[in-house]
Amino acid sequence: KRIAVFASGSGSNFQAIVDVTQSGLLPADISLLVCDQPKAYVIERARENGISQFVFSAKDYQSKAAYEKEISKLLQNLNIDIIVLAGYMRLIGSTLLKEYEGRIVNIHPSLLPAFPGKDAIGQALAAKAKWTGVTVHFVDEGMDTGPIIVQERIRIEENETRESLQKKIQRVEHKLYPSILHMLLTQGEVTNDEKARTY
Ligand code: GRF
Repeated sequence: KRIAVFASGSGSNFQAIVDVTQSGLLPADISLLVCDQPKAYVIERARENGISQFVFSAKDYQSKAAYEKEISKLLQNLNIDIIVLAGYMRLIGSTLLKEYEGRIVNIHPSLLPAFPGKDAIGQALAAKAKWTGVTVHFVDEGMDTGPIIVQERIRIEENETRESLQKKIQRVEHKLYPSILHMLLTQGEVTNDEKARTY
């Protein structure tokens, strides 16, 4: 199976997925990184790992449809099976949604539907929530609204800082995302069975 990862930032989730494919734990090929931020660190990670990349600036295109058409051509050429969003800070438009319906997943640092959108960690802290977590879900046209595949809860301690919470969330994300991708790609469907969540 062939994966395209879309990312806009540091790419620690991208790296986690690359690592499990390289160690043979995830039987898949990361064929492409799509990045909309020419200065993002994830580009460096792709280069170091010899992964092809498509880097673009949305402002160079007339519309979302215009850049998504270009991305779509690349995905078709590479026979991409699944689009994995890993900190991609743009809504997916109808061009890609139509072509990859049910085959686009996202990871979000909260227990959706709580704290959607930007800075979910800051939102959880500001709300003085006792729990937050990580959600992996299928992508639809909304912002962090598609059908949920799996969620993992994380406790927010009394003395929690943004840094400590972010660390806990990342630790969960870097295990959860590869294991869910493994399930999606090898079983063709998802399950909530905890035991199935090991790879
Ligand atoms: C992650 O927390 C992910 O849940 C969110 O964006 C962040 C990306 O981090 N969608 P990184 O670029 O993978 O380090």
